[in-house]
Amino acid sequence: MKKTVPLVVGNWKLNPVTMSDASDLAQATARKHRKTSDAYVAIAPPATYLAEAGKKICKSTVSLAAQDVSVNNMGAHTGEVSIMQLRDLGVEFVIIGHSERRAAGETNEEVQKKTLIALKHRLVPIVCIGERERDDQGNFFTFIEKQLRSLGKVLTSAQIKKAVIAYEPIWAIGTGDTATADDVKEMQLFIESVLTKIYDRPTAKSVRLLYGGSVKPGNAAILHTEGGMKGFLVGGASLKVDDFAAIVKAVS
Ligand code: 13P
Repeated sequence: MKKTVPLVVGNWKLNPVTMSDASDLAQATARKHRKTSDAYVAIAPPATYLAEAGKKICKSTVSLAAQDVSVNNMGAHTGEVSIMQLRDLGVEFVIIGHSERRAAGETNEEVQKKTLIALKHRLVPIVCIGERERDDQGNFFTFIEKQLRSLGKVLTSAQIKKAVIAYEPIWAIGTGDTATADDVKEMQLFIESVLTKIYDRPTAKSVRLLYGGSVKPGNAAILHTEGGMKGFLVGGASLKVDDFAAIVKAVS
């Protein structure tokens, strides 16, 4: 993947309710992205729909992403989905450490393990970070730094360059309360400064950063041009084919 080309990933979360709707949504999304544009596009349906969505997008430029992965590869682990199973389905990206998974108990240690597993099996990990709320003292920066340092403990410079980091402030997810372009720009510079301390400047500059949190057609262009990140992780708007296409267009 060329680092200069933006990436837009649609995280469907636990939607839609039926296979038939998932199939239609994947097909309609694929139709909108038949030809190569100036952006990479991926969709992350629930695991139960990955195979079907994979069939629907195969003639388009849309890639497949998973919303999570097990830390285990096989064996007695009821209810889990392994990286090898994802690979076998043609999945190229895996979202790791989404705040909704962290809220369900996922730890930084699990995020470390999952990121390493994804890289080992040549999937691109999209590691989510983000603070619950902002405070005037700027303590949220310390929180973001901690999440980054946890990754820095286990990933070499060569590995982090292959990962994607998605900054998703929890207060902006599904709330309509988007971060401003200035917030996003400030966070881009902050994340790069932390990665520079952990690694070095060239490494920091080559890690792809995404923004996520109430990205919509109406704010995508300004967040993209002024926010300084290299794409978006989109939730709700990825369930609306036209909205998702408009967001992709805004970064293209
Ligand atoms: P929304 O775009 O619905 O705020 O969700 C963002 C998100 O959590 C994507 O992973």
